[in-house]
Amino acid sequence: MKKRVAILGCGGMGSGHAIAIASGTGIAVWGDVFQKDESLKAMLTGPIDTDISKKLELAGVYDIDPARNAWAAEQGYFVYADYDAILQDPMVDVVLIATPNHLHKDQAIAAMRAGKHVLCEKPVTPNSAELEAIMAVAAETGKIFYPRQNRRWDRDFRIVKKIYEDQLVGPVFAVESRIQGSRGIPGDWRGKKEFGGGMMLDWGVHLLDRILFMIPEKVKKIFCDLTYITNDECDDGFKMHLTFESGLTVSLEVGTCHFISLPIWYVAGKDGTAVVNNWQCEGKIVRLKSWEDKDALPILAGAGLTKTMAPRDQDSTNEYELPEAVFDNNELYSNLVDTINGTAEQLVTSEEALRVLKLMEAAFESSEKGIVVHFE
Ligand SMILES: NC(=O)c1ccc[n+]([C@@H]2O[C@H](COP(=O)([O-])OP(=O)(O)OC[C@H]3O[C@@H](n4cnc5c(N)ncnc54)[C@H](O)[C@@H]3O)[C@@H](O)[C@H]2O)c1
Repeated sequence: MKKRVAILGCGGMGSGHAIAIASGTGIAVWGDVFQKDESLKAMLTGPIDTDISKKLELAGVYDIDPARNAWAAEQGYFVYADYDAILQDPMVDVVLIATPNHLHKDQAIAAMRAGKHVLCEKPVTPNSAELEAIMAVAAETGKIFYPRQNRRWDRDFRIVKKIYEDQLVGPVFAVESRIQGSRGIPGDWRGKKEFGGGMMLDWGVHLLDRILFMIPEKVKKIFCDLTYITNDECDDGFKMHLTFESGLTVSLEVGTCHFISLPIWYVAGKDGTAVVNNWQCEGKIVRLKSWEDKDALPILAGAGLTKTMAPRDQDSTNEYELPEAVFDNNELYSNLVDTINGTAEQLVTSEEALRVLKLMEAAFESSEKGIVVHFE
């Protein structure tokens, strides 16, 4: 059965959702709205795009900023008088929360108490205690609380997940996942602690969520250094190091003061290495043919010679294109409705979001105290 969604907060993200849901094409439409570049548009239009008009309908929006409501009215969307009007509307099944992070908890709880399901933007809350409060109300009311960890459906991540799961570089022993920009923290609420700002909560939540989704192992230890290069109040980036129980290590990095970007993914396996250079998913896999390389000669490296670090030639390695990943860009929207209808398992759960938030809290502690945080 189709579900009607009201959007709370019609800024950057809320307006994107409004267009996506009202058009029925879902995320695919964002290619037209935000990107004129065909190659970027291709990143948003996956091989499968569920027609979400069969599942979701836009009931309307509400924003405290009259200018945003005026924008919504211009698009022909119904604009509610206030949040209460959404909660009172018996035709609304789902409240989609797209307000600044510090507001999510109270707004989500109010929605569930009013009998609505909730799709909540990431980070669902700025800390684990607030999410636990939401989870208690979800349990009490029987309503679905759905964390919108949409970057599990990024093409670059899906490619890396395939490399990891299909062992295209053999058993993986190290992963680097990195996002580097050069514009500092946006000059809005994201730069203020009281609103749940900072890059750990903004981008860190995506990077951690994807890694925990991909690697089915316990984290044994974590070390993190937050950076404050362009903002004193909130972290404008971080470097985090995670060690999983098998010994697999993951380095996560978010930076906002980088004018040359390193590859977004680097995956090291026992039989090869994969690199994804950018969001256009340019990159390659190099696989070992044989460890045998008796004739290798030393190379000049700086002021000395090295045989250990000499690059391999094509006799001992093969180079491959990155695999393609087949997935439905609209799976999160679609799964929300199927979960509500009881026909599918929830793909992104509160428990998963809670694990991410707890690890982020350990990362904050690690950075503040300069320690490695261990887990049993
Ligand atoms: N999943 C993603 O990829 C992604 C990307 C961007 C933002 N987000 C998340 O979406 C949320 C919103 O971010 P954004 O970039 O759209 O911010 P934004 O500042 O562009 O929009 C937030 C909107 O909420 C409105 N608002 C504030 N208080 C309100 C209230 N009490 N009631 C109704 N409206 C209120 C503001 O007026 C503003 O229009 C954040 O949680 C953010 O982390 C997610």
